[in-house]
Amino acid sequence: MLREPKVLLFLFGAFWSTFAADALGDWWKDTFIYQIYPRSFKDSNGDGVGDLNGITSKLEHLVDIGVSTAWLSPIFVSPMVDFGYDIANFTDIDPIFGTLKDFERLTAKAKTLGLKVVLDFVPNHSSDKHPSFQKSIQRIKPYDEYYVWKDGKIVNGTRQPPNNWLSGFQGSAWEWNAQRGQYYLHQFAVGQPDLNYRSAALRKEMENVLAFWIARGADGFRIDAIALLFEDEGLRDEPVIPNTGLPPTDSGNLEHIYTRDLPEVYEVLKSWRKSVDVLGGDKKILLTEAYTTIPLAMKYYESGGIPMNFVFITNLTGSSKNRDFKRNIDRWLSSMPRGSYAANWVVGNHDNHRAASRFGRNRADQLSMLAGVLPGVGIIYNGDEIGMEDTSLTWDQTVDPAGCNAGPNKYSQYSRDPERTPYQWDNTISAGFSESNRTWLPVNPNYKTLNLLRQKMTVTSHYAVFKKLVGLKKLPVMKTGTAEVILMENNILGVVRRLPDASPVVLLINFSDINVVVDASTWLNVPEELNVYVVSVGVDIAAGTRVNATAFKIPPAASVILV
Ligand code: GLC
Repeated sequence: MLREPKVLLFLFGAFWSTFAADALGDWWKDTFIYQIYPRSFKDSNGDGVGDLNGITSKLEHLVDIGVSTAWLSPIFVSPMVDFGYDIANFTDIDPIFGTLKDFERLTAKAKTLGLKVVLDFVPNHSSDKHPSFQKSIQRIKPYDEYYVWKDGKIVNGTRQPPNNWLSGFQGSAWEWNAQRGQYYLHQFAVGQPDLNYRSAALRKEMENVLAFWIARGADGFRIDAIALLFEDEGLRDEPVIPNTGLPPTDSGNLEHIYTRDLPEVYEVLKSWRKSVDVLGGDKKILLTEAYTTIPLAMKYYESGGIPMNFVFITNLTGSSKNRDFKRNIDRWLSSMPRGSYAANWVVGNHDNHRAASRFGRNRADQLSMLAGVLPGVGIIYNGDEIGMEDTSLTWDQTVDPAGCNAGPNKYSQYSRDPERTPYQWDNTISAGFSESNRTWLPVNPNYKTLNLLRQKMTVTSHYAVFKKLVGLKKLPVMKTGTAEVILMENNILGVVRRLPDASPVVLLINFSDINVVVDASTWLNVPEELNVYVVSVGVDIAAGTRVNATAFKIPPAASVILV
């Protein structure tokens, strides 16, 4: 008897948290977010580089595939040392992409189409061409403290950087500036000096950037490299990890206890959450980019953000087993703080090899299908929806600083160019990306057969699979149902979503390269007969086929959704 009120309270609580989330306008819940890399999406003026008018002209594609949101990688004034992640003016558009007017047209059209627009906010660093950096060099107040400056160390009469910190793009994270007579910190390229978040004036200025873009139609931000905002005040050396096998210039040789995840980071995020919340309009999404541990990632939820979940990228590969997936998925879901928070699953991005290349062509749909069936938000990178693959590039074709700084022998281990080549729209010149046949990165030669138009005209395609996943997320069982990840025999993984009085949704993934027959009905406690909703490309079972779930044959490497 005593337990009943508790149960009622629990049910009411669950109902209320779902209801409250919607009432507060968490519009991103149970949708897909689509990352656009503007340089490579669509070129409207034939200069070989994608631009805002190009994106505007293709927004219907986002509506067609059913994503809720376009997140644009940086479009701001930049010398393009890191292709837009080095910003020389946080509140204007780079001419290569267009103008503020073009941006207004883009957001206006997005609004009429019901799409949200999320911008990339790059708070950790600016370009060395930013006027504030120039003033900082000259020690003009308050800019003198906008960046992280430090005297050199004199060892045996020669000047050396203040400590052993290494840049994410190889070599010391410190660069000498003769004019100021000090070193400045750059955790990425030399042209990306780190901003100093211990300066109140700098913090205020960066907050104004958020307000500026919200006033111009941004629905939120993806916050770049947030974990790196603060460094140890004593600038202590970071511990060296022995025997990494990495080149000595690689920042992976250090344990980043003094340059990442400092507690102050979360305080700044909380202040950003507050400041965007008072600006009115729909609730703003703050997606945080931090490649970190799960407990530290969870702290972003509690600070008003959504930590991008990179487990599909950092913890899992094409040779992972069903148990590796289960462990990683369960760990994220069970670590999430209680309350109405959205889980999320990042399938790919502009910093990592494409999903179809990481997992192999025959598993190109696997991650999107997981992101579609698991609770929360799926985050895909432009081209994932058609199974685009990495482009292999020579040293001479390499432009990414991460690749260039690694040199001709190692560039391919570091370069992010392979995943950044132009979007493959059709089989015309430059894959329909540009009227020019000279594009900033070469088009993948496979575009003649791997392109959106062709997939639209084919019955089975990655495009068709993706569209069905978006449809699935709209079902009540996907929004509020339970999620179980179950290890089955012979390297099969099952994911089941259940809601009382609704048909369960079942995803089966074959992690082996042979046919496996399973009794999914018993393993997963689902009906003996189910219907095929969608299958990964390459599997020869038609959607709508009624199957016997007690002896269901899953082809090699296949992913199958049954309802
Ligand atoms: C983030 C971006 C990456 C960039 C780096 C420095 O990790 O995603 O592309 O190079 O920050 O801004």
